[in-house]
Amino acid sequence: MDRNEVKKQIDHLTDTLNDYAHHYYVLDEPKVSDAEYDQLLHELMELEKANPELKRDDSPGERVGGEVLDSFKKVQHDVPMLSLSNAFNAQELRDFDRRVQQGIGRSLRYSCELKIDGLAVTLKYEQGKFVQGATRGDGTTGEDITRNLKTIPSIPLRLKEQADIEVRGEAFMPKRSFERLNEAKEAQGEQLFANPRNAAAGSLRQLDPKIAAKRSLDIFVYSISRLQGKEIYSHHESLNYVSELGFKINRQHKVCDTIDEVIDYCESWLEKRADLPYEIDGIVIKVDDLNAQKELGFTAKSPRWATAFKFPAEEVITTLEEIELNVGRTGVVTPTAVLSPVAVAGTTVKRASLHNEDLIREKDLKLGDKVTIKKAGDIIPEVVNVLTEQRTGDEQDFSMPTHCPECESELERIEGEVALRCMNPKCPAQIREGLIHFVSRNAMNIDGLGERVIAQLFQHGLIQDVADIYKLEKGELLKLERMGEKSVQNLVQAIEVTKENSLEKLLFGLGIRHVGSKAAQTLAQKFETMEALQQATIEDLIAINEIGDKMADAIVTYFDKPEVTSLIQELADVGVNMVYKGPKLRDAEEMDSPFAGKTIVLTGSMEHMNRNEAKKEIELLGGNVTGSVSKNTDLLIAGEKAGSKLKKAQELNIEIWDEARMLEELGG
Ligand code: IVH
Repeated sequence: MDRNEVKKQIDHLTDTLNDYAHHYYVLDEPKVSDAEYDQLLHELMELEKANPELKRDDSPGERVGGEVLDSFKKVQHDVPMLSLSNAFNAQELRDFDRRVQQGIGRSLRYSCELKIDGLAVTLKYEQGKFVQGATRGDGTTGEDITRNLKTIPSIPLRLKEQADIEVRGEAFMPKRSFERLNEAKEAQGEQLFANPRNAAAGSLRQLDPKIAAKRSLDIFVYSISRLQGKEIYSHHESLNYVSELGFKINRQHKVCDTIDEVIDYCESWLEKRADLPYEIDGIVIKVDDLNAQKELGFTAKSPRWATAFKFPAEEVITTLEEIELNVGRTGVVTPTAVLSPVAVAGTTVKRASLHNEDLIREKDLKLGDKVTIKKAGDIIPEVVNVLTEQRTGDEQDFSMPTHCPECESELERIEGEVALRCMNPKCPAQIREGLIHFVSRNAMNIDGLGERVIAQLFQHGLIQDVADIYKLEKGELLKLERMGEKSVQNLVQAIEVTKENSLEKLLFGLGIRHVGSKAAQTLAQKFETMEALQQATIEDLIAINEIGDKMADAIVTYFDKPEVTSLIQELADVGVNMVYKGPKLRDAEEMDSPFAGKTIVLTGSMEHMNRNEAKKEIELLGGNVTGSVSKNTDLLIAGEKAGSKLKKAQELNIEIWDEARMLEELGG
């Protein structure tokens, strides 16, 4: 094929595949089999690989992701992204209708739509090409998530007309994809997403677009915020127009002539919502006539021409099968309701925390009871009440145990607390939970080391304390379930990088009684090294504003224990950092060091000290050493044979020193 023919073929394949994708993802009417699509896609990708300059910017290859970003750019919205007023019942809908009629002087038609529970995005097209997509943010300024949005197959990269248009819509994760994602996360021992909305938002806020590409996201476009060169007179016409351009719209919308019809529409969805493959949290009602919309205008926060009918939190009935007891890392025993699985607000609920014994008594819960449950704030499952009238007599009383369900030592109720506590410091449940806490996000944040893997490692006796995590060997890890060569490699790498964490992460991870992540931050900032904190007296500690008697006492008691001293020594021996690396309390200028408060990258090979030694020295002098050059880097120290980092620093006009200069500033 000559170049011209190749170009023709690439254009033809791009158009054909985009048309197939439109039928599949937008219209839900597949034109060809998956195999046929894959075959053509493969052909196109081969041609693009051989002729990258001919690849079109709406190539289906654009959907797979791309480079990892450092951060999201801010985007100023030309038209602000407002929110909606709410109506919680029929009366409030009638009040809305009355205000509209008073504003315009006659009755109007309403366009009713499902209120999709996802996140609002805005999509900008120039000459029919997708140029920018952003989140709502605070309504005025959002974040540029174009790369992630391009991975959503129902967002057209090129429109059917060369329109200059900006549309708004709701990006969301279908219920089924959400369940699959959480199943995979559970298997990995990772934290689950609470609901599809969080999952969609979390996916679109990833800096690596390949993650969003894997998350099966979708969109419904619900309005035009800017359009040039075309007159449209009603909202339902604008939905039809965006659909013609290639956008996906929700087909359930309906124009209603009266508020009674609107109310019927809203009520009909109270029941039908459970059958939808995506979550909705209400109905949006909009004045259909665009001129009337203009006339009604806006309040400071929301349009006067629209409102959202919000569904009440869904309550469902299920059976309390069992009450399970979990021992936390501090020994507190928490009862959890095990329920017959039931769908509530889009997810399947199997468990709900009962918090403590008092709550069980207050609600008079018995095993086998029929209970109503709901999701508080539509997120956390909660037992609302017991249907005592449905009791059969077979229900059984529940009482809290007197001994720890895990280690059988006697439980104690601490004065002034409702909680029952296992006081055995060697209780396996407490140790396991302590390990889980150590690797969790706000603590050492070890990727890939979640609850499941920790539980396995602990069960196999591979880790007894947190220092053991840093002594794990590949061979041992390979023996665990679902651990292949690649995941072991990743895990070892993930563990290794956390050795460099700043002190506060370690402090929080140790799980000292009363020391939360905020207090850990304060302590690390004040004492700067583990050694200094180990030597602190109660007086030193309470001299700090944020630290009270109880916490000071807990800290001193903790560090007084010989087993703690040896644990910290072990952690230091395996190379875990014991120094605070965040912003210093002392003013950078005041600290007589050219590194203080600066973000510094080391690259290339050094003659007089290795990079790790240099890093430690710099950190002691208040510098923050990071791995990659970005616009936030203040200084690059380049040894011999520095490569791409040096080039990037030069491009970004970042100050560059050689080894000799660094040694001089380090004081020889
Ligand atoms: S119209 C002035 N239509 O609900 C705002 N919004 O509080 C006009 N939403 O975050 C919004 N489905 O993202 C509209 N069919 C729909 C919607 C919808 C979901 C979201 C929207 C916004 C929130 C409004």
